Amino acid sequence: MDAEPGLRARAAALEVLRQVLCGGRSLGRCLEARSALPDRRDEALAREICFGVLRRRSSLAHVLDVLLRRQLAADDSDVEIALLIGLYQLIYTRISPHAAVSTSVSLARHLGKPRAAPLVNGVLRNFLRRRGALSAGIARSGRPERSHPRWLVDAVRRAWPARWREILHANDARAPMTLRVNTARVGRERYLDRLREHAVEAWPVPHCEQAITLARPRDVSELPGFLSGEVSVQDAAAQLAAPLLDPAAGARVLDACAAPGGKTAHLLERCPSLELTAVDVDRERAGRIEGTLARLGLPARVRCADAASPGEWWDGREFHHVLLDVPCSATGVIRRHPDLRWLRRPEDPERLARRQSRLLEGTWPLLARGGTLLYATCSILPSENDDVIARFLAAHRDARVGPNHAIWGIATGHGRQVLPGDDGMDGFYYALLVKA
Ligand SMILES: C[S@@+](CC[C@H](N)C(=O)[O-])C[C@H]1O[C@@H](n2cnc3c(N)ncnc32)[C@H](O)[C@@H]1O
Repeated sequence: MDAEPGLRARAAALEVLRQVLCGGRSLGRCLEARSALPDRRDEALAREICFGVLRRRSSLAHVLDVLLRRQLAADDSDVEIALLIGLYQLIYTRISPHAAVSTSVSLARHLGKPRAAPLVNGVLRNFLRRRGALSAGIARSGRPERSHPRWLVDAVRRAWPARWREILHANDARAPMTLRVNTARVGRERYLDRLREHAVEAWPVPHCEQAITLARPRDVSELPGFLSGEVSVQDAAAQLAAPLLDPAAGARVLDACAAPGGKTAHLLERCPSLELTAVDVDRERAGRIEGTLARLGLPARVRCADAASPGEWWDGREFHHVLLDVPCSATGVIRRHPDLRWLRRPEDPERLARRQSRLLEGTWPLLARGGTLLYATCSILPSENDDVIARFLAAHRDARVGPNHAIWGIATGHGRQVLPGDDGMDGFYYALLVKA
């Protein structure tokens, strides 16, 4: 297919972006569902374009609106994406303008729309000619409050009136790659030395005993000891869960929304003698828990089931601890999933709050008296966090908020909130409940 160098990467990016922007599919799932391009540099460029176009979509769309003399036809959404890809390269990358324009024109032909090739060529060349005059508009439309849908800006502003701009700004940044060192096998300092020996720049994360952030993302195959389970990729905020729950040796633990198994694995790395049951309702994702545990050589009982319907999977023995890492709006991890801001709908947080309450109601009876339940979300919206916990506490006299001596994040009424970018972490919320 690929006579022109670089077309393969752009064509792959266009296909993924079409699935996300026209099909409403998640970027992560689309990237996983396809085979990576054979050339690593092509694959890296395709991903860079996908993430970049989604992060800068509204700014790019604004420029395109100014440049287009007429609306594109409804069935030309693929041509529009080819134009966004071209503009992204011209505005936000160091790719030569010649390569950006010529590969975009070839993309139009690759789409089987040779009649669109002169349009793509004309729009991108017009941009290059008028770049100076357009720069103020580009800067304005690139502001974080313009790179999120209105409803989301309003929701973040209501939730965090003093910090909303900072949060939106953090959402537009690139997420760092953070590792969790399996300190049962290798100390964090020793692993940092190993990275230095491999010329990988990295530093320890405050508040997280096992976390290391890399100066720039790498393929996991380049990380010493990855395959043998010495390290895993996991954001530092997600690494706060296991020490908060802190189960004792031999405790029975339920990880109720466990896939792909990041927190399950962390709990077991810290305490391999746990009797841990990991449940997830999504069959494909539940399979990934087994993959995670196999790489790390950790044992757990994995069940694909609805955690809130224990009749389907529970053996009747109460748990000493429950980790409830519920599905949520993921508004704390937008920097990692730039598609989320376009895929989420204004009604999602309330709809998800009902699911979260149901999971809390459904798993609470499985917890032994004196046991703890850690409620977690990667949301920054109180409607999915403190509000869910407040309603639950009001309805359950045997539930109270447990001690949380954490020094990270912000104390909310019932839990603690990390906002995106705080100490380099993703946005996360944790509330620890104790059963009387
Ligand atoms: C935030 S993710 C969990 C991430 C995981 N704890 C980790 O650290 O790797 C939420 C998970 O909840 C699962 N889920 C949603 N509804 C569920 C239900 N009713 N029962 C069990 N799992 C559910 C989803 O399939 C998804 O995998």
